[in-house]
Amino acid sequence: MALDRDVRTPLRRQLEIAIRDAIRTGRLRPGVRLPSSRDLARGLGVSRGVVVDAYDALGAQGFLVLRDRAVPLVAPSGGMPAVAREVEEPVVPSCIFDFTATTPDVSLFGRRAWLRAFEQALRAAPDADLDYGDPRGALDARRVLADYLGRVRGVVASPAAITVVQGFSQAIDIGFRLLAASGARRVGFEDPSLDEQWETARRAGLQPVPIPVDMDGIRVDELRAIDPDAVVVTPAHQFPTGSVLAPARRRALLDWAADRGALVIEDDYDAEFRYDRTPVGTLQGLDPAHVLYVGTVSKTLAPSLRLGWTVVPPRLRDRFVEGKLYADGGSPTLDQLALAHLFTSGAYEQEVRRARAVYRKRRDTLLDALGSSLPECRVVGIAAGLHVLLRLPPGSDEAAVVAAAEGRRLRVRALGDFRLGDASFDAALVLGYARLSQPAIAPAVRELAAAVSAAS
Ligand SMILES: Cc1ncc(COP(=O)(O)O)c(C=O)c1O
Repeated sequence: MALDRDVRTPLRRQLEIAIRDAIRTGRLRPGVRLPSSRDLARGLGVSRGVVVDAYDALGAQGFLVLRDRAVPLVAPSGGMPAVAREVEEPVVPSCIFDFTATTPDVSLFGRRAWLRAFEQALRAAPDADLDYGDPRGALDARRVLADYLGRVRGVVASPAAITVVQGFSQAIDIGFRLLAASGARRVGFEDPSLDEQWETARRAGLQPVPIPVDMDGIRVDELRAIDPDAVVVTPAHQFPTGSVLAPARRRALLDWAADRGALVIEDDYDAEFRYDRTPVGTLQGLDPAHVLYVGTVSKTLAPSLRLGWTVVPPRLRDRFVEGKLYADGGSPTLDQLALAHLFTSGAYEQEVRRARAVYRKRRDTLLDALGSSLPECRVVGIAAGLHVLLRLPPGSDEAAVVAAAEGRRLRVRALGDFRLGDASFDAALVLGYARLSQPAIAPAVRELAAAVSAAS
């Protein structure tokens, strides 16, 4: 804010105009705290009275809120209704019952455990850990991850093979770019699969191609016929059908990858949440040379941490690490060290056990409620994860059901939303239960049943 001492306009008036312009043009946003009159006067080299007068004038005009013994604030309306301000973030219509399938219940996040782990990490970290680090991530974190993944998921990994990433999203972004740069053109996705991931492929210059899925997981015969350069799979719990990749298919998938020299990207996104069956091992453990394994804390802890890990086949490792380096220089070290503390103290598994018990109860309540309110619908994919697939009665129009559900302020998505190709699926809804509190489940399902019947 420059004041001009060579013009005739008094300094207090110049200051008033300058602040008002800043408010009008949106540089000073509603609610922003201005400096105290003493600080601003010192900064501008003027007497305090100049600033007090300018603030008083702006207060009288409604641009500032003046408060006793506190700094002034820019008025909530920005001073005038006509102020040109950016349109604020779009208002998402609120829903009463949220069946979102892709997010956990973030209110379960163990804040205290994380704080404790973070504090321990910060106390123990040498100054060198505050510097730029290895783009693969902190060695301590990679060591702990290698131990955990081997013990719990049957992943074959040394710390050198691991790169810590910002979730599955970044893992595929780096992986796809690397594939495209080495001449790959097409990447296969299970059809149906998570729609956001297809765009990541397109942006990297790859064409996403649909590979059909049935209740035994991805159709490897079709994969062989379509023969993309790489394929993304969710073998432990297919998203969104909930199927598990059958043992014969697992072998066939890895045979295809070996014959073709193709890459299998294994999304182990909700491996920790299984309820009724023994854990399924990873593909990576069977063929580390052809599988790029990816895990994430987005379901177990919170998506906002943006923490995940990859185990990259040796032939791609250097290029993957280079991709990570140029993407962001490495994931935040202190968060990785906090995660390492969470693992070594046993708190991570404790948190997962606690969340698993909550989700299991919610799933059981959901199944009971669906059984009584929608007995004509079959529910599949119930053994693991945070969602189920609800098959609608034959002849149902799933888009009409979703529209009727939205009218009742339910948030729910149709299976068709996750269709990549032009195959037709039987009408179904993808029902997440993580975001419904226990007492909300029965009323939510009654509303859903009303939407199904209104749409039929
Ligand atoms: C199928 C699937 N994979 C992976 C993820 C996790 O992505 P990220 O680790 O980038 O949060 C999700 C979360 O919604 C998911 O639904």
